[in-house]
Amino acid sequence: MAKKEGMGKFIRPDLTAFGGYSAATSPETLEGKVEVPMENIVKLDANENPYGCSPKVHQALATYPYFNIYPDDGQELLRKSLQKYAGVDAKHIVAGSGSNQLIDLLLRLLINKGDEVINCVPTFGLYSFSTELCGGTLIEVPRDEDFAVNISAVKSAITEKTKVICLANPNNPSGTLTSREDILELLDTGVPLLIDEAYYEFSRQTVVPLVDQYQNLMVLRTFSKWAGLAGLRVGYGMFPPRIAEYLLRIKIPYNVNVAALVAVQESLKDINYLMASVDAIITERGRLFEELKKIKWLKPFPSQANFILCSVLKGKANQLHQKLQDKGILVRYFDQPLLRDFIRISVGKPEHTNALIRALREIGG
Ligand SMILES: Cc1ncc(COP(=O)(O)O)c(C=O)c1O
Repeated sequence: MAKKEGMGKFIRPDLTAFGGYSAATSPETLEGKVEVPMENIVKLDANENPYGCSPKVHQALATYPYFNIYPDDGQELLRKSLQKYAGVDAKHIVAGSGSNQLIDLLLRLLINKGDEVINCVPTFGLYSFSTELCGGTLIEVPRDEDFAVNISAVKSAITEKTKVICLANPNNPSGTLTSREDILELLDTGVPLLIDEAYYEFSRQTVVPLVDQYQNLMVLRTFSKWAGLAGLRVGYGMFPPRIAEYLLRIKIPYNVNVAALVAVQESLKDINYLMASVDAIITERGRLFEELKKIKWLKPFPSQANFILCSVLKGKANQLHQKLQDKGILVRYFDQPLLRDFIRISVGKPEHTNALIRALREIGG
């Protein structure tokens, strides 16, 4: 039998330095480590929906009789329902266990060792995560100081090895939108373009109607944010039909679970309810931004998503993160070359904003 310590030699050498994804903290892991009881933790670190999912989802899941049966592997009903919500034919649509899974699946479909992926940094970590896992080469094109994409730099970065350009719109963690004109300019290069619209419902700008017209356009969406289903893991993408067919072929069987399928159907029956929560978050985003502006040692950036990125002008972002966590308020912090001393705060309910601002004032710069 192989000795335990000998297993390392079987692991792909190119993965030995792979850092993995740095996920948000789960509140249950903080039991005993923060000054407040668990139920009072204010979770503003993962852009979740503080209003939760539709009550119809709770009701339907409580009485659903067939958890013992595998879901439909071809996602037929789901794709038909999404056709109506998204406004594109079901032949374009593939669903995943979160849109994360679709990023991973798409890059596994397109990227061979040495192929290039253009990434407009700083941005969401999954594009680099999956590129590295596939043995691809990341070509990082920095955004400007306001986090706008430098379209001519992206175009100049294209080579014959470029397989895809990834662009989160609005971007995470900056909340910035790239204009339709800029996206059209990238589409005209003919290079496959992945537009990640995870926060579409908060920005209300989309290129989904172009999916029919452009053979190189792929758009991702999720139910994690606007519909409050982050824990059930369901996202979807709209692709050229040939890509959609391949994604359905290479995905793990039954990749969207039955509870998620039920939850999507119920959410789509309750869009008005969910959009009222989205409206409340958009209103609160405006108030949070104004309140953050009053704190002289923070510089908030305008956002079209459900979070606000702030530069920490005095002190260290990791220390601020820790001090807020001690008070039971979770935010995300960044300390990397293009995001030196930044925090990202998800937009919560008004009482969450109040608690956060109170804590920031107590902490001081
Ligand atoms: C830009 C972006 N894309 C995709 C995702 C992943 O969402 P999902 O929960 O659907 O996997 C996130 C989550 O934070 C995100 O910020």
